[in-house]
Amino acid sequence: MLIGVPKEIKNNEYRVGLTPDAVYELHSAGHQILIEKGAGLGAGLEDAHYENAGAQLVRGPEEIFAQAELIVKVKEPQPEECKRFNKQQILFTFLHLAASKSLTEALMASGVSAIAYETVKDAQGTLPLLAPMSEVAGRMSVQAAARCLEKPVGGRGVLMGGIPGVAPAYVVIIGGGVVGLNAARMAVGMGANVSIMDRSLSRLRYLDDIFQGRVRTLYSTQASIKEQIQRADAVIGAVLIPGAAAPKLLSREDLGLMKKNAVLVDVAIDQGGCFATSKATTHESPTFVVDDILHYCVANIPGAVARSSTFALNNATLPYVKLLADKGIEALNKLPGFAEGLNIQNGQITCAAVAEAFA
Ligand SMILES: NC(=O)c1ccc[n+]([C@@H]2O[C@H](COP(=O)([O-])OP(=O)(O)OC[C@H]3O[C@@H](n4cnc5c(N)ncnc54)[C@H](O)[C@@H]3O)[C@@H](O)[C@H]2O)c1
Repeated sequence: MLIGVPKEIKNNEYRVGLTPDAVYELHSAGHQILIEKGAGLGAGLEDAHYENAGAQLVRGPEEIFAQAELIVKVKEPQPEECKRFNKQQILFTFLHLAASKSLTEALMASGVSAIAYETVKDAQGTLPLLAPMSEVAGRMSVQAAARCLEKPVGGRGVLMGGIPGVAPAYVVIIGGGVVGLNAARMAVGMGANVSIMDRSLSRLRYLDDIFQGRVRTLYSTQASIKEQIQRADAVIGAVLIPGAAAPKLLSREDLGLMKKNAVLVDVAIDQGGCFATSKATTHESPTFVVDDILHYCVANIPGAVARSSTFALNNATLPYVKLLADKGIEALNKLPGFAEGLNIQNGQITCAAVAEAFA
């Protein structure tokens, strides 16, 4: 199969769909790979690495979109990319369609078969292609929160880990999945006082078990969230209902309950955000203030650590890319849960949660 990897064009996005190692494996298996020149540079992957691995370099995206049967990307396609897809193509990338009606409609109009990393499941029902980026985003959300707590950035002037004789920051993590667990690990490591809230009792039991008393686990209800945000220096939003728009857990009025200059980090912003006042931001301008509360809502957090993230993503996606290259769209039926990744086919929405978001 002819596989194409364009350079990512989203603001401050430096990741790339395939590493040279992945290209080498695909090329060795008899596939042909077109890579846009400079596509890997942001992740420290030079054109020569790709050429040595067997890829053919092309000057711009035109040839890739015109010729490739399978397009492997990282972020959701931008409007100028959507215009270039065709009916014969398979697109494999993050899509987060429930957060964008215009992107959904553009992909439907293009006729492309669009498979979203974030809704592919494995035999256990977990999300194997979202997980590595959630691990990164969860860890980075706490770095971001620590920075946002600093006064010059607009925060309360609180040191995440405290100091002898002075209490550390109180961090509340809403959603104890992959993002939540990784956020908690970093926050605990920095010495913060940490609570994780979730609606899954089995998940809370697991978290309680692995953190051995170093975090508090709390059942998430509207009332318990209101109670917790009053005490928090930083709140990290990390909930997910796969494929669906994120549930809004804080209203604008709720901000009035919080401490002045406290921080909200909305990691779920890629699914529309879990705080009513969230709106997507970029690494270039990551924060904004609503009612004295500093919001950090970067939609592509892992893009900032492009090199680590590209390797982590490829470790997870390569077996799926290989299967798609070998079998075409039939690959969806060859692995349990792979078919759940298909979001758009023949101009129709094929993911129930996305369809529901626009019903
Ligand atoms: N901004 C970024 O750059 C970035 C990067 C990676 C992931 N994400 C996003 O982070 C979010 C979380 O991803 P994940 O991999 O941790 O998902 P996950 O499925 O592993 O975890 C989500 C958790 O949320 C819990 N939950 C659902 N509703 C809840 C509620 N009302 N209250 C409390 N908990 C609730 C679920 O029980 C689950 O444990 C997703 O929206 C994902 O797309 C964003």
